[in-house]
Amino acid sequence: MLFPSKVKMVEVGPRDGLQNEEKIIDTKIKIEFINRLSATGLSVIEATSFVSPKWIPQLADHEEVYKKITKKTNVAYPVLVPNLKGFENALACGVKEIAVFTTPSETFSQRNTNMTAAESMRIIADILQAANANQIHVRGYISCVLGCPYEGDISTQAVADMAETLVRLGCYEISLGDTIGVGTPGKTDRLLKTVMEKIPREKIAVHFHDTYGQALTNIYVALSNGIHVIDSAVAGLGGCPYAKGASGNVASEDVLYMLNGLGIETGVDLNELISVGRFIAKQVGKPVQSKVSNAK
Ligand code: HMG
Ligand code: MG
Repeated sequence: MLFPSKVKMVEVGPRDGLQNEEKIIDTKIKIEFINRLSATGLSVIEATSFVSPKWIPQLADHEEVYKKITKKTNVAYPVLVPNLKGFENALACGVKEIAVFTTPSETFSQRNTNMTAAESMRIIADILQAANANQIHVRGYISCVLGCPYEGDISTQAVADMAETLVRLGCYEISLGDTIGVGTPGKTDRLLKTVMEKIPREKIAVHFHDTYGQALTNIYVALSNGIHVIDSAVAGLGGCPYAKGASGNVASEDVLYMLNGLGIETGVDLNELISVGRFIAKQVGKPVQSKVSNAK
């Protein structure tokens, strides 16, 4: 058991959460949401997505959101970028950090980005070259790492190879996405051990959706492997628009409650996080998907 003493929580609610909510949230509310998250002690808040508004109308206001949020110096505000057009728009808005995304599943790649996996890797290589030239930090996501809605099982070796390539191209961290929340603890453990043969554990983050209620257990397995970066969304917002049945991200409140109980430091205040989760759930018009928030 290699439990870390400190964990970096990456809040993805404003991006992964709101991208999949039916109700399009007013730009002013998104800005207030992110500003309130900035006051909880979080050090990373994925703010929005510079993707095509035709594909994700929920985040069509990405430029205004990014420009108008209050940026704290000790908080990173990465944005998701699918292509060079998104990168250039993000750069023009003053973005300092981006996240790119790909997957070993050919079908998911087509449905999510209208590209083959190989095309997406070529585009990511171009983005990384441009990002390196502009001192922009890049995080890499790999989706469907524990199963795909179209192709079923995904080879752990293919995920590990992709992680290695993304690190070689310049990603500082690889977030392993259980996009549809089908992972179980044994599978999670095997995946992490395979990926750790290719990249150092310090560069691995985990990103669980909670469709089958396994996310916290899987995170515990990741912690026991020494992983110290965890993605989550307040109020358990979100899902994935191109993955039918994918439920929200694991709730940040529940992750934090578990980390507090394990004595793992995060710098994040639970009561503040609960309060922001309730605020955004009310705006979205859905109940808070956090057991901890609902029990308090
Ligand atoms: P396409 O339709 O093949 O591209 O989409 P296109 O080049 O033909 O462009 C179509 C239109 O979009 C054009 O506009 C472009 O200008 C515009 P028109 O000429 O028709 O008026 N466009 C853009 N506009 C703004 N920003 C851009 C941009 N690019 C093109 N960056 C494309 C290809 C990649 C753009 C599209 O498929 C796309 O945006 N996909 C994003 C889908 C997405 O965001 N999915 C969810 C994120 S991934 C995820 O959630 C998983 C994750 O959470 C981890 C996990 O859980 O596993 C990260
Ligand atoms: Mg996701």
